[in-house]
Amino acid sequence: MSLPSTIDDDGLKCASLQENTRTSASKAFSASVDDCPGYTASNVVESDGKLTADLTLAGTACNIYSTDLTDLKLLVEYQTDSRLYVKIYDAGLQVYQIQESVLPRPSGQGVLASDSTLQFKFTEDPFSFSISRTDSDEVLFNTNGTKLVFESQYVYLKTQLPKDPNIYGLGEHSDSFRLPTDNYKRTLWNAESPFIPRNSNLYGSHPNYIEHRGESGSHGVALINANGMDININKTDSGDQFLEYNILGGVLDFYFLSGPSPTDVSKQYADVVGLPAMVSYWTFGFQQCKYGWPDIQTEAAVVANYSAANIPLEVLWADIDYMDKRRIFTTDPEKYPLDKMRALVDELHQKGQKYVMMLDPGVQYSDSYAPYSRGKGVDAFIKAADGSLYRGEQWAGEVVWPDWFAPKTQGWWTDEIKRFFDPETGLDIDGAWNDMNEVSNFCADVNCDPSQDAVDRKRAPDTARKGWYTRQTPAGGMKGLPDRDLFNPKYRINNHQGDISVRTLYTNNTNADGTVQYDTHNIHGLMMITATRSSLITRRPNSRPFVLTRSTFAGAGTKAAHWFGDNASNWDDYRITISQMLSFAAVHAMPMVGSDVCGFNSDAQEKMCARWAMLGAFQPFYRNHADISAPNQEFYLWELVTQAAQKAIDARYRLLDYIYTAMHRAASTGSPIVNPLFFIYPNDAETFGIDLQWFYGDALLVSPVTDDDATSVTFYLPDDIFYDFWTLERVEGKGATITMDNVSFTDIPVHIRGGTVLPLRSASGNTTALVRQNDFTLVVAPGQDGKASGSLYLDDGDSLDVGDKFSDITFTWDGTTLKVDGTFGYETDVVVVSVKILGGEEPVTKEGNWSLNEAFQFTVS
Ligand code: NOJ
Repeated sequence: MSLPSTIDDDGLKCASLQENTRTSASKAFSASVDDCPGYTASNVVESDGKLTADLTLAGTACNIYSTDLTDLKLLVEYQTDSRLYVKIYDAGLQVYQIQESVLPRPSGQGVLASDSTLQFKFTEDPFSFSISRTDSDEVLFNTNGTKLVFESQYVYLKTQLPKDPNIYGLGEHSDSFRLPTDNYKRTLWNAESPFIPRNSNLYGSHPNYIEHRGESGSHGVALINANGMDININKTDSGDQFLEYNILGGVLDFYFLSGPSPTDVSKQYADVVGLPAMVSYWTFGFQQCKYGWPDIQTEAAVVANYSAANIPLEVLWADIDYMDKRRIFTTDPEKYPLDKMRALVDELHQKGQKYVMMLDPGVQYSDSYAPYSRGKGVDAFIKAADGSLYRGEQWAGEVVWPDWFAPKTQGWWTDEIKRFFDPETGLDIDGAWNDMNEVSNFCADVNCDPSQDAVDRKRAPDTARKGWYTRQTPAGGMKGLPDRDLFNPKYRINNHQGDISVRTLYTNNTNADGTVQYDTHNIHGLMMITATRSSLITRRPNSRPFVLTRSTFAGAGTKAAHWFGDNASNWDDYRITISQMLSFAAVHAMPMVGSDVCGFNSDAQEKMCARWAMLGAFQPFYRNHADISAPNQEFYLWELVTQAAQKAIDARYRLLDYIYTAMHRAASTGSPIVNPLFFIYPNDAETFGIDLQWFYGDALLVSPVTDDDATSVTFYLPDDIFYDFWTLERVEGKGATITMDNVSFTDIPVHIRGGTVLPLRSASGNTTALVRQNDFTLVVAPGQDGKASGSLYLDDGDSLDVGDKFSDITFTWDGTTLKVDGTFGYETDVVVVSVKILGGEEPVTKEGNWSLNEAFQFTVS
């Protein structure tokens, strides 16, 4: 737990208050929404691939939570043959719309409706619409029977669903991967979330989902709206299933994606929000962090201890401990003196290791602190409603926050980053860690005075800061409606922190472009990582920037990696990492994700940490991290964990190019880096609910032991051929569960899916730079038809633009001949030294010296 204890106490109070409110809000809601008049469509104009209409309030306003808007517009675009866009917005163009600069959208250039795999149908009075598949007429989304409500501070839309639907996404959450379908609420409001509560809003907002219907396919629904919302999935008393949006504002901006395979939906979604950023090869190395390392000597000792224990350490992280009085862009002169830090970074770099440092958004409010004065000089900070600087409380005490909309903020941020992280005079970091960017504010309520200490600030009279609460009138012009209650909208979302301004910025704060936090709160983190990424590129123009972020919004994968925040060292949080990873990587176009391995809060136990060290090695982002109040948990501290980590990292590193290839596919096509089982077996209903197993890439099925302290695991093997990754023995999948006993704490069951070819490095290495020098072994794992295929992407591992200096190599095995073909633009000395063909009694091994600079093939008789 990292927040001051006064805040914990309040947090608990807030949680119980919230419970009460939830019941009354939903009662009020169900009593009145049916009384609303809905809208009537008129002036319908249909042209090639496009439809527009006016929507007019169809009767007396119901004003259930605010003021009904009388005039709306409908825009429907058949954007591609698999993507249909539906937008419902105010005719006056005053309601907030997400700035194009924050989330660029694909062009509306269209196809003819007749060429689309989806069809938009509507009823004029009251207006409702449905989306169906062109070929089968199957209805995917249907608002029939309910009326649209579009008010100044409440937007409501309801769609019917099939019974017990398979729905995934609507993150960020820590619930099951396949979402519950009864009385389930997904609240989206980015929030400081110590201990990652279940059934709750967390650090990020991704209002998109995939619905999978087995043989009739998968489709996606992506709402692009940044306002706070509750999305309910529920059934009526008579069993009718539905999903409803209850949103605090903004417009309805929907993308319907036709799939039909789950992977297609992932790709189509990435086309909407942007393809994930390609990361450097080294970011797949094992990383160690700890909040609370007391000094730079301790950090150096951690590096030495890893080395002594023979556990490869790729990246060392620096949490806020390095800062002077916890102010960003400073170092603690006593405990983390700059010269000693520079020496450590140099040493790491000489050994091929990396260093990543914390960069929080809160900037200490003090004229004697240069980053603040420089920022203030260019008007880089968020303003309160009365035009003064908005102040709150963060690690450095009283702070202000960057206004990412202000024209000079990016320049100031880049300048600070370049000064502090100057390779010649400062710290030559390899990546930046953006934390607390929901935004987290330790001030618990509107009476907080951040200039007081933790106890006094709660008693500060609110009269002192009256101007801050002024209801301000935004500028209009898609920047937000005037005259809204920006603190306490009548519809109360189920924010686990309580009111929407609690422990974050006041929601009436203004951004430089005239928008208010009420509307832009959920995109603050996305904007911060956009700015940080851009600054890092300015600093090292030819390298892929690495940013790790806690807060995310749709599209965040284009900028950063994400870890799941402040979990705990327990089995439940170990298990839930799998759902979290699958949601982000497969549904939200964020491949580079992982949890704090061994858990952040509380004491990690040896057996659990050993299991987690192995589980984490088969997830994309692999970092051990713990809180200041938790004991140290570096892998080398326990014998069992050391062995587990050595074994897991060895396998991970031999598989590095395999996962790097999957990452490249994610970054170039949007296909997921890890796969839920139903992505590979979409017709097998047994796979739809599985969230304790996953495919690492698309060929390796990982089935870890997940029961507390257990040594056996029961897991599902689809009806297919598999090969034990560790022994290469063939295992028949029968579409049933199997139980594996005696799985020691240094083992994790992993199976190669038949039909695939795995490119493996023949040996591991102490750093990923050394791994890259090792030759390859190809493992050919024939499927039921005796055939197999795979691929390998190679480049220099770090250039932002590799031009044509990459190789994209395909392997095909037809039962007798292995063909290696593709594009060969990356010159390498590394060769294929052996090919193992599985399937027989014993693997057939061919040794050789095949170059990876050109095509080759050979036949095994
Ligand atoms: C909260 C983050 O979630 C955690 O990872 C970090 O250690 C602390 N902030 C301190 O910076």
